[in-house]
Amino acid sequence: MNTTTDSIIVITIDGPSGSGKGTLSQLVAKRLSFHLLDSGALYRLVALSAVKQQANIHNEQAIAQIATGLDVKFDVQGEATKILLAGEDVTDAIRHETVGMNASLVAAYPAVRTALLQRQKDFAQAPGLIADGRDMGTVVFPQAPVKFFLTASAEARADRRFKQLQQKGASVDMVELINDIKARDERDTSRSVSPLKPAVDALVIDSTELTIEQVLNLMLARAHNSLGIKV
Ligand code: C5P
Repeated sequence: MNTTTDSIIVITIDGPSGSGKGTLSQLVAKRLSFHLLDSGALYRLVALSAVKQQANIHNEQAIAQIATGLDVKFDVQGEATKILLAGEDVTDAIRHETVGMNASLVAAYPAVRTALLQRQKDFAQAPGLIADGRDMGTVVFPQAPVKFFLTASAEARADRRFKQLQQKGASVDMVELINDIKARDERDTSRSVSPLKPAVDALVIDSTELTIEQVLNLMLARAHNSLGIKV
C-alpha cells in the first residue's frame, strides 16, 4: 500500500455525529468513483474489540495495543461495505449507541490515534479518496486540496438520529439522544489531541436547514471548481 498520499486527490469531510457526513461521504464517493474512508468505524472497531477482549477501557496502552493489532477488513460489495473484525461480520454491531460512546472515549487517547494514523493514510489510493471523520482535514490529510466541515444544530442531529432509530424499530428517548449528542460533542471538541474543529481551509456547511441533495450539490460544485474534475 502507499505510504505517501501526496499525489492522490483526497477530499475530507469532517463534522460532529449526525451532521450527515456519513451519508454525504458515501454519495460524493459514489459520484466521483473515489474510495471511502469511514474513520469513525475504526474507532468503533477498537471500542468493540476492547469489549470483546474484556480489556480495561480506561487503560490507554492496552487499548492502543488493540488498535495496533486490529484485524479488520472492509469488504466492499457494490453499494454496501461489510466490516469484518477478525473474520466476524460486525457491520451492524459497531453502530450501537454504546459502541459510539466507547469509541469517543478511546478516541481521546493519543496512543490510539497514533496507532490508527498510518492505517487511515493507507486508504488514499487512486483515483482518490473521500475521508470522513473528525480530524481528516486537520491531522490525517492536512494536504487535502478540498476540505469540508459539516455541522448542524444538536437538535437537528438528534432528530435525524431519532428517525433512523425509529425506522429500525428501536424505542428511543429524544431528550436522552440530545444529551448523548451534546456529551459526545463536548468530549470530541475538548480533547487535547485532534479535537473536532474545522481546518482553517475547510468550507463550513451548516446543514440544519438544508436537504442532503442541497449539501451534495454544494460539495460537488466546490470539488469541480477547486479540482477541475468532472462531477
Ligand atoms: O463518526 P462516528 O460517530 O462513527 O465516530 C465514532 C466516534 O469516533 C466519534 O464520536 C469520535 O469520538 C471518534 N472519531 C474520532 N476521529 C475520527 C472519527 C471518529 O475521534 N476521525
